[in-house]
Amino acid sequence: MPHDFARLERLLLVAWPARETQKLHGWTLLTDSGATGRANAVAPLAFEGAIGAAIGDVQKHYQSRGMRPTFRIARGACAPRDLAEVLSARGWRPSQQTLVMAAPIATALQTLPDPADITLGPDYPDAVDAILKETSATPAEYEERRGLAQRTPAPRAFALAGTASVGLCVVVEDMAGVFLMRTQPAQRRKGHARRILAALLRFGRDAGAAHVFLQVEASNDPAIALYEGAAFKTVYSYDYWREEPRR
Ligand SMILES: CC(C)(COP(=O)(O)OP(=O)(O)OC[C@H]1O[C@@H](n2cnc3c(N)ncnc32)[C@H](O)[C@@H]1OP(=O)(O)O)[C@@H](O)C(=O)NCCC(=O)NCCS
Repeated sequence: MPHDFARLERLLLVAWPARETQKLHGWTLLTDSGATGRANAVAPLAFEGAIGAAIGDVQKHYQSRGMRPTFRIARGACAPRDLAEVLSARGWRPSQQTLVMAAPIATALQTLPDPADITLGPDYPDAVDAILKETSATPAEYEERRGLAQRTPAPRAFALAGTASVGLCVVVEDMAGVFLMRTQPAQRRKGHARRILAALLRFGRDAGAAHVFLQVEASNDPAIALYEGAAFKTVYSYDYWREEPRR
């Protein structure tokens, strides 16, 4: 089944909710503490009005909070359709290309091992906290991701392999979103993430999802290898667009 990019973008906003969401000129402006990309950028899925004024309003919104104005643009699913070209002409540039990968859950499960020893539950457990802290680049990133994970809607399940590895599945409509896949550095390449993924996909299937989707940075070779090995394919990609400082 070909995936509808715009629909996946809309489901992502529901599954991974920033602290603050507001509409501006039809765009969705996400604002959190400024530590991670997805929760601190414009999701331009619909648009109305004059483009120059709208970009100016975005700049004011983020700058007034001490943040760098950022658009997260999925080419083929943004509004207006030529937004990337408009921003490029104004000196904005893309970075941090991120892949949106998806798979039919039944197909992915055929590739994955039995998740017998994985614990699953709807509440954010202390062990998740410890892994998240250890694997975040900064305390601010840890705090923001923790808030995002705690805010995710039901039905959801956190999966844990002891204190070694974690993942989160959030089901929206008929799609399971996978987030927060992390294994403690000393515990990697022992198959923990594959078993976590298997447990999350079984949960998603039992909660009514037929397909799974996730986001992974295009430079994250280990994670992409994990997902490709589980029958995930890239559906589309998005970039973060920011204004280059003038020299
Ligand atoms: C990505 C990550 C979760 C994988 O966890 P893990 O428990 O080490 O993964 P597994 O041991 O289950 O590996 C499963 C498969 O993924 C692939 N893989 C995992 N790490 C890899 C690496 N460093 N290089 C190449 N392939 C890798 C391999 O195909 C591996 O199977 P194999 O060991 O039989 O070859 C872990 O590296 C991690 O926490 N990274 C930092 C956080 C992150 O980037 N998360 C993903 C966000 S989308």
